[in-house]
Amino acid sequence: MSHTFPELPYTYDALEPYIDAKTMEVHYSKHHRTYYDKFIAAIKDSELESTNLSDIFAQISQHSPAVRNNGGGYYNHILYWNCMAPNGGGTPSGALAQAINDTFGSFAEFQDQFAQAAINTFGSGFAWLVVKDGQLLISSTTNQDNPLMDVAEVQGEPILALDVWEHAYYISYQNRRPDYIDAWWNVVNWDAVSEFYAVALAQGR
Ligand SMILES: [Fe+2]
Repeated sequence: MSHTFPELPYTYDALEPYIDAKTMEVHYSKHHRTYYDKFIAAIKDSELESTNLSDIFAQISQHSPAVRNNGGGYYNHILYWNCMAPNGGGTPSGALAQAINDTFGSFAEFQDQFAQAAINTFGSGFAWLVVKDGQLLISSTTNQDNPLMDVAEVQGEPILALDVWEHAYYISYQNRRPDYIDAWWNVVNWDAVSEFYAVALAQGR
């Protein structure tokens, strides 16, 4: 396989008014693109060019900081983009809704715990909903680490990603990370997250 830079699944202005078009343009075409380009440079002429990302992350402690930071940035943003959609928001349904209720008590309680994890991520990082041994867990990582990495405190399959780097929200929200998180719930693509959940379970994660 080769590592390719994916298209954004919607236009830059598709998540307005919750995430502004300028933020999306810079975030995708500059930040994400740079992680991808630097990752490709870091793995050039090595076996990692034909190693899939989850296998790379499973042994990330044995690779360079350039592979860790840029490979993470490359993957994390793909999941983040795909967890959002215009006309998103609302609540999940089906098996994911049931699992959230069973694990956290209610969707509102889940939202509260997830938002707290995102707010309390010190500096730059991501909040995650993770499937581990068939169970749902909330976690956060700093910089561009993720739960697929062998260095992560909580390891498992991420099915929902929230980027809390300032570059994800500064233009509209400045330092008000909680306001960005409140708005972000309106663009979460629960159909996609449900699909990621089903795939993770099917893979025995
Ligand atoms: Fe980002």
